[in-house]
Amino acid sequence: MILLALAAAMLGIGGWALVRSPWETQEGLAEHQPVPFSHKHHVGDSGIDCRYCHTSVETSARAGLPATHICMTCHSQLWTGAEVLAPVRQSMATGRPLVWHRVAQVPDYVYFNHSIHVARGVGCVECHGRIDKMPLTWRAKPFQMQFCLDCHLDPAPHLRPPQLVTQMEPLRWSEAEKRSYGERVMAAHRIDPKTLTNCEMCHR
Ligand code: HEC
Ligand code: HEC
Ligand code: HEC
Ligand code: HEC
Ligand code: HEC
Repeated sequence: MILLALAAAMLGIGGWALVRSPWETQEGLAEHQPVPFSHKHHVGDSGIDCRYCHTSVETSARAGLPATHICMTCHSQLWTGAEVLAPVRQSMATGRPLVWHRVAQVPDYVYFNHSIHVARGVGCVECHGRIDKMPLTWRAKPFQMQFCLDCHLDPAPHLRPPQLVTQMEPLRWSEAEKRSYGERVMAAHRIDPKTLTNCEMCHR
């Protein structure tokens, strides 16, 4: 608790903080945000599903960041006078969107699409880590080419039933169960690691 308060105070003063280093890959870099939004509170403690806020993750390339009215579905009733939420109320009143600083991005020359990954059952946790434990959001994985290729070369053990994609806790499956489930999905959808690692797949 004290550590958390300290970290929050440092953020307030410094504007940004290195939560965990690897500077180069921006892994662990928590950006200063207009509101100190906590996935730990909203997902970990309150159990809100990712798709409540990231509404387009199943249907489009982008997951999308929540519009202010989504926050207000709860915060017009909850914590209504809280100072930390003043920017949210202001945004609602003026119609000016909150500007969130992005932490998880790939360069423009890389093509990425959420919907296909979600449809095949790649869990959010594979690429974004334990978001449900983050008091402030940081990039959990390096989005370097090798990270993508490691999975594209052998996706089977990384696949799960699509209805479990937003579950953060690890599945209680043995390695053998994971692989045999994944191999069935690969066969059903004719997923071929050879085409998945073609340069044109991600550089279009
Ligand atoms: C489905 C309900 C719900 C939605 C939607 C929601 N919140 Fe919350 N929020 C809560 C609850 C419940 C708490 C109290 C959490 C606690 O005390 O542990 C909270 C607390 C907060 C706090 C106080 C600090 C903290 O994390 O405890 C902030 C800041 C906040 N929310 C920001 C937002 C923003 C920004 C959005 C929109 C992107 C949002 N909330 C959307 C339910 C919601
Ligand atoms: C109550 C709304 C809410 C819920 C539920 C929620 N998020 Fe978020 N998410 C946000 C907001 C607001 C931001 C922007 C601020 C930030 O980065 O913390 C964000 C940012 C992110 C980012 C960083 C994007 C970027 O490039 O900056 C990722 C990744 C993410 N969320 C994943 C998830 C996952 C995975 C879940 C479910 C386990 C989830 N979120 C649940 C509101 C939510
Ligand atoms: C296979 C890896 C992978 C999976 C699985 C994945 N993401 Fe992402 N996510 C990314 C990448 C890469 C980006 C950066 C995209 C960009 O810069 O265009 C990203 C960006 C985001 C963002 C920032 C906003 C946006 O639309 O770009 C949010 C929010 C997010 N992801 C949420 C989720 C949620 C929720 C899930 C699970 C339902 C999920 N992601 C599953 C790799 C993944
Ligand atoms: C944990 C496993 C995993 C990771 C990590 C991963 N992918 Fe994928 N990716 C898949 C699977 C599975 C498919 C679906 C193949 C299919 O159904 O044809 C896929 C498909 C794709 C496609 C094809 C989309 C389409 O419309 O045909 C692109 C592009 C892609 N991934 C880009 C990326 C990029 C860029 C990264 C890294 C930022 C990445 N992926 C990381 C598993 C992964
Ligand atoms: C599964 C997705 C994926 C595939 C397939 C892929 N790349 Fe990439 N590539 C990426 C990502 C993600 C980056 C961004 C790396 C970063 O930001 O550090 C990247 C970056 C690059 C770069 C920029 C320099 C660098 O290494 O950072 C070059 C050049 C490149 N790729 C060439 C290729 C070639 C050639 C192939 C085919 C042999 C290929 N890529 C296949 C995802 C992919």
